Amino acid sequence: MDITQSRIIVTGGASGLGAACAAHFRALGARVSVFDLKAEGQDAYAVDVTSEDDAARAVAAAAHAMGGITAAVNCAGIATGARTVGRDGPHDLGLFRKTIDINLVGSFNIARLAAAEMAKNTPNADGERGVIVNTASIAAFDGQKGQAAYAASKAGIAGMSLPMARDLAGLGIRACAIAPGIFLTPMLEGLGQEIIDGLSADVTFPKRLGRPEEFAQLAAFIIGAPYLNGETIRIDGALRMQ
Ligand SMILES: NC(=O)c1ccc[n+]([C@@H]2O[C@H](COP(=O)([O-])OP(=O)(O)OC[C@H]3O[C@@H](n4cnc5c(N)ncnc54)[C@H](O)[C@@H]3O)[C@@H](O)[C@H]2O)c1
Repeated sequence: MDITQSRIIVTGGASGLGAACAAHFRALGARVSVFDLKAEGQDAYAVDVTSEDDAARAVAAAAHAMGGITAAVNCAGIATGARTVGRDGPHDLGLFRKTIDINLVGSFNIARLAAAEMAKNTPNADGERGVIVNTASIAAFDGQKGQAAYAASKAGIAGMSLPMARDLAGLGIRACAIAPGIFLTPMLEGLGQEIIDGLSADVTFPKRLGRPEEFAQLAAFIIGAPYLNGETIRIDGALRMQ
């Protein structure tokens, strides 16, 4: 899929990895619609990705405004932390459900609706009608203490790459996921330099946190690479958490 001609939904596009994707895709010439809880600026839609109504309305509006949808990049998500049994007792079940709902169900909600719009596209020379890119995490594979909910949500994302690719193959739509290591986004910036230095020390090379633009480069590469499908790709400086 030629990214310069693409019409792309980016969820979570108001901050961090999603904002970097929106900026990078626009710089490459793509048309971008940002879906986030707060809509600010042109081509931004106020969407709670877990809501069927919000998502259906916004996907239809974005398709209308952009003249169709050729890619959807799901970056909306939350990071939660709590142990299965902590000092205050068992893990809050509502928090577990909320984490799965936003990170996993929300991504699938946008993917299914965007794919239905992509199915209306005329295929390109490679037979492609669209591309879905979801955001997992290395926590999908090496979850840490306190990450049962977050890791489960991200393992769900990794697990659906292949079946989604298989489901959508007949429509000429690819599906991949990116599993980032630790990236310097507003979520992380609040931790302070000492903690950031500590996290960077565990990265194999380069010994620093990921830059959001590096995530955006990979997302753009996936959109442009027709033979990349059904895979979850790590981008983590070879970081392997204990
Ligand atoms: N930063 C990292 O190190 C890192 C590592 C691995 C995975 N990830 C994943 O990457 C994604 C982006 O993370 P980030 O670091 O850019 O975080 P971030 O907090 O900077 O951005 C997340 C965005 O998602 C939006 N959002 C949250 N809930 C939403 C909802 N229900 N509906 C619509 N929008 C919603 C927020 O408003 C925010 O703008 C997340 O899925 C996160 O789990 C991040």
